[in-house]
Amino acid sequence: MPPPSSSGSSLSPGSVVVAPPQHDAHDAHDHHIAAARYHDYRHASNPLSDGMIGEIPLVEFGADLHQHGGTRIVPLDNAAVLGCSGPATSPGLCANFVRIRGGEALVTDANTTSQLLFVMRGTGTSSAVDADGPPISWKAGDLFTLPARSRRLHAAHDDAALYWVHDEPLLRYLGVEATQRQFTPTLYRREAILEALEAVVRDPSSATANRLSVLLGNRLFPGTKTITHVLWAMFGLLPVGADQAPHRHQSVALDLVVDAQPGCYTMVGRTLAADGSIKDARRIDWQPHAAFVTPPGLWHSHHNQSGQPAHILPIQDAGLHTFLRTLNILFSRRRPDGTTEVADQAG
Ligand SMILES: [Fe+2]
Repeated sequence: MPPPSSSGSSLSPGSVVVAPPQHDAHDAHDHHIAAARYHDYRHASNPLSDGMIGEIPLVEFGADLHQHGGTRIVPLDNAAVLGCSGPATSPGLCANFVRIRGGEALVTDANTTSQLLFVMRGTGTSSAVDADGPPISWKAGDLFTLPARSRRLHAAHDDAALYWVHDEPLLRYLGVEATQRQFTPTLYRREAILEALEAVVRDPSSATANRLSVLLGNRLFPGTKTITHVLWAMFGLLPVGADQAPHRHQSVALDLVVDAQPGCYTMVGRTLAADGSIKDARRIDWQPHAAFVTPPGLWHSHHNQSGQPAHILPIQDAGLHTFLRTLNILFSRRRPDGTTEVADQAG
């Protein structure tokens, strides 16, 4: 589509808004045309690179946010940096630490299509507030998803903490209310997750694999292979001595460290060097039950020099990206001759 005519405009170098043509001050359509703007394509085609909208920050949230104090929800809020209404951890998702003291309870209630809760510690139950149905009993290491209109009462038997991720920021941006449940509450027991991961590890082809992880899925989403139609979740093992080759994707990852000893870390940066390493990478040291954001499009790799296996749980908006065909996931890998190539399949 060609750019709008700048005839009659007062376009100056660096100007973004092209002034609309003059019109009768008593035009009956004033109230329809007042909000219309005409942007010179040359200056408006990439608001992100122009700084008109903010980059998604690489930020960390410590475990101390949920280890002390009263029963409460702690949003991991980047809204001020993102320039959107909050709380929001990324433009589309909101991650939260939920702390519930033993014998206490709280309600989670958000306008979402998808919610995911991972139990970091403790035991308890989650019951629907406005609907019938059996409660979900949970313990450390369990994970469950909830669809739209899921107001839930979470009661802890002992000191508990959950990692709660949902897509309310996306719905807030769209100006919509989720009403249709696209799936039913689904529970992924710790034992089943670990059993699936162990099956991956035992597979003979895993001996030389760069990644040993389980993608948590739902039978209702066989195309995207994601845990909901919007959310993506992976339970990953970072073996002793792991030195992953970098990969990147357009989804945002809200990473939770499940367990790790000192010496586990993630490297993040914008470009690859000729040897396949990440140029000018920033190092994120893993701390158990801490979270960090991996911005879209950045190369990142996980490393384990701790001498003990570690586990990580990235939650992403990759269900939506996969459906939109915008995920653009790429993996760098070393060829036998020592050079590096970029592929669209994990090796
Ligand atoms: Fe990733």
